[in-house]
Amino acid sequence: MDFNITTTPLKEIKADLEIIIVIDGNFKHTFIQDKKLLKKAGFKGGQDEICLLLEKNRLYVGSDTLKGVGVRSAVATAIRSLLGKKYKTIKLATYLSHPRCTASLRATVEGIVLGSYTFTQYKSKKIKSRVKEIQISTEGYADNYEVSLEAMARAVHNGEISANATNFTRDIVNTTPDDCYPKIMADIAEGLAEKSSLKCKILKPKALRKQKMETLLAVARASRHKPRVIHLAHKPKNAKAVVTLVGKGLTYDSGGLSLKPADYMVTMKSDKSGGSAVLGIMKAVSEMDLPIEVHGFVGAVENMIGGDAYKPDDVLTAKNGKTIEIRNTDAEGRLVLADTLCYAQQEVKADYLFDFATLTGACVVGVGHYTSGVMGNADEPKDLVVNLATQAGELATKLDFNRHLKKTIKSEIADVCNISNTRYGGAITAGQFLSEFIDEDHKEKWAHIDIAGPAFVEHAWAENPHGASGAGVRMMIRLIEKLARTVKTH
Ligand code: BES
Ligand code: ZN
Ligand code: ZN
Repeated sequence: MDFNITTTPLKEIKADLEIIIVIDGNFKHTFIQDKKLLKKAGFKGGQDEICLLLEKNRLYVGSDTLKGVGVRSAVATAIRSLLGKKYKTIKLATYLSHPRCTASLRATVEGIVLGSYTFTQYKSKKIKSRVKEIQISTEGYADNYEVSLEAMARAVHNGEISANATNFTRDIVNTTPDDCYPKIMADIAEGLAEKSSLKCKILKPKALRKQKMETLLAVARASRHKPRVIHLAHKPKNAKAVVTLVGKGLTYDSGGLSLKPADYMVTMKSDKSGGSAVLGIMKAVSEMDLPIEVHGFVGAVENMIGGDAYKPDDVLTAKNGKTIEIRNTDAEGRLVLADTLCYAQQEVKADYLFDFATLTGACVVGVGHYTSGVMGNADEPKDLVVNLATQAGELATKLDFNRHLKKTIKSEIADVCNISNTRYGGAITAGQFLSEFIDEDHKEKWAHIDIAGPAFVEHAWAENPHGASGAGVRMMIRLIEKLARTVKTH
């Protein structure tokens, strides 16, 4: 899909279709030439409501606000309604919520790319977007914009990169466990490195044993697919800060011997969403060539059953020497992350450490399907994540640790237990378990992001399709972009 931002007025741009956003039900704007027809059609311009005027080649869509969050969703819904239709070229105006801020323009571009996404790998009849070219006129919804053409072009470019990275992540997550297992995730990482300046190192079982990652190896043991730990690195010369990302890459989570009930097992191909997000973020970071050193680690493992499976009652020793009493093999993500976090911290001393994981059903129960839970020991990295997620159009909220819940993961026979002794507060107790594997240097620099809710939803919502959403990708790209703008060189 080609994007072009041009000073040519809308009327003079040739395109198959024009998309017009109706803001907050206001039909008085000069952009809206079809007031009578729209009224006749009963179109009110509510958020994501669409009305295609076939003979005029105009598609109207409503947004409650000029802000990115409304515009992104509206444009994505409009574009999604054109899937399989004949329109190849589209034009639209520039919508900015503030005269000097390009966020809504970027959101428009993201909405178009995210809304065009389809996952058709397993369909015999493939319905795809036929849109090839988008012309955005600098002619604005308001006429007092103070943004240079250059800044607008940058917003378009970065919007394209971050939305394409999100779609890249969605593809990996949507791929079935038989087609995407740990080696395939490693192949995808190596493929990324071949096409960019990213460096890639893959650890196979022998190297994992050498690194004493026995906890990760135990989870992987009953699977015919051997585990991998992936390390991708973006190392620009002018790096202002170092960021480490760690992702849970459970290519399938059957629950292991603590087997999931049938209904809960379906969709567990999505348990690789954290690792897949890390791959997408690394792709974008290298494409934007941001002046931040970024390391992406993925623990890629399949959690299965078999004679060789790890068991409730086992005691495992993690890479940092801590012993873990296993009481439930379905709490496997924290075990894989424990070793991967230890390895990541050994390899890189970072200014920020973020992990992404579909870690707990409890997080979904607590905050719903659309929101990520953000945890950690210090407010600064957590606030950073929540704020930048909001700017990127993702929902994230803090879940505070507390010393009472901390006691519930104590073990009588090992250093810590892999599940809590209470049914409540499961997202937080999982986060507090991970905290046991964060070293002193990183304690205040770490945030854990539980994406179990938004990573995979079985219906379309806002700019997201049925299935994988690419949760975490846009929020973290925004965060790293912000660091690139604000962190002083040390
Ligand atoms: N992968 C699951 C968490 C999950 C649940 C992700 C639903 C997405 C949607 C994780 O490995 C798991 O099974 N967690 C258990 C932990 C429990 C055994 C303490 C859970 O949440 O039930
Ligand atoms: Zn599990
Ligand atoms: Zn899991």
